[in-house]
Amino acid sequence: MSLPNPLFEASYERLFGGNVALGPETDAFFERFYDHFLQHEEVARLFERTDMHKQVQMLKRSMLHLVSFYVIDEPNAELARLAAVHRSLRIGPALLDSWLEALVQTVSELDPQCDERTKLAWCWALTPGITYMRLGMTKL
Ligand code: HEM
Repeated sequence: MSLPNPLFEASYERLFGGNVALGPETDAFFERFYDHFLQHEEVARLFERTDMHKQVQMLKRSMLHLVSFYVIDEPNAELARLAAVHRSLRIGPALLDSWLEALVQTVSELDPQCDERTKLAWCWALTPGITYMRLGMTKL
């Protein structure tokens, strides 16, 4: 399938390689992501009792579901479950902006070819999935 966002695809491949499942060599990306995300006081408080090693593994898997939304243009059952989990955790949807900011910051640090257009390409690719999460979290 040819996708309409070549800058995102190229960056994703530089960061994670060409495999669908993300291997252990990609853990460093997600650990760095949480370093940034947890800079927010509110986020740090929410994760106070969380095993961050497990959390990294869960986020790695959920990344695939976000990207899947972008590829097939509809949510899968796992993304629907995740939106419900976050709703029941009473996470304010505004924190999704911080989530995306932390992600793009991580991309810009770890993808040596990342430029402003690449950052925009990441925002564009993840926006369908994040918007879906936002609606699920606010139950619109
Ligand atoms: C698109 C954005 C996000 C994705 C893909 C994501 C992904 C995940 C995943 C996969 C889990 C594990 C849930 C489970 O399987 O039961 C989780 C739990 C959680 N997420 Fe998110 N998340 C996102 C946004 C956020 C935001 C904005 C916050 C705000 C702080 C947040 C806070 C949490 C917390 C507190 C947990 C529970 C941790 C625990 O079990 O102790 N997430 N998230």
